[in-house]
Amino acid sequence: MLKIAVLVSGGGTNLQAIIDSIEDGRIRNTEIVGVISNNAGAYALERARAAGIEALCISPKQYESRELFNDALLEGVNKLDPDLVVLAGFLVAIPPKMVAAYPDRIINIHPSLIPSFCGKGFYGLKVHEAALARGVKVTGATVHYVDEGTDTGRIIFQKPVEVLDGDTPELLQRRVMEQAEWIILPKAIDMIANGSVSR
Ligand code: GAR
Repeated sequence: MLKIAVLVSGGGTNLQAIIDSIEDGRIRNTEIVGVISNNAGAYALERARAAGIEALCISPKQYESRELFNDALLEGVNKLDPDLVVLAGFLVAIPPKMVAAYPDRIINIHPSLIPSFCGKGFYGLKVHEAALARGVKVTGATVHYVDEGTDTGRIIFQKPVEVLDGDTPELLQRRVMEQAEWIILPKAIDMIANGSVSR
């Protein structure tokens, strides 16, 4: 059984996709051992609790420095003792100490086809705003391992999604979630849990 900790910041639709996929068998041999949010108001926390999953907030606001927050975050993850850490819309830079503690054991979902529209400053809706501003006709999502850079780790899966006339950032975000993110993130976890992707 692969034990996963899921880190979130907002609405938690990717977390929900993981919960639903475990329930309906698209993700096999996997258990969510806890959900951590940096944001106390994240709806993702409610989704976790509704599914009977331990959910807690570790916010930078509770700590005097970034370093203390980073230590608390690592300690919070360590307490869950996960085999894999899943960043499902976690909009905080992962501290190097955590990357070192979980080598090839942290994965992230990013809402573009990396290396487009990724790196510092590209998160959430901003990614889709940038894609529309550039006028790309195809975008998508990427699941990748997390290394010390921002969105630079080894790619596991990508899925393209068409940009349509009249798209707004919100419409495009929703289509990328529905047609890519909610599919490839569960798929990556299932493959890792069942030995098809090297860790
Ligand atoms: C998702 O689109 C995810 O790909 C993105 O934030 C959104 C969270 O939505 N993540 C990033 O931009 C990471 N750089 P959710 O809370 O509904 O899953």
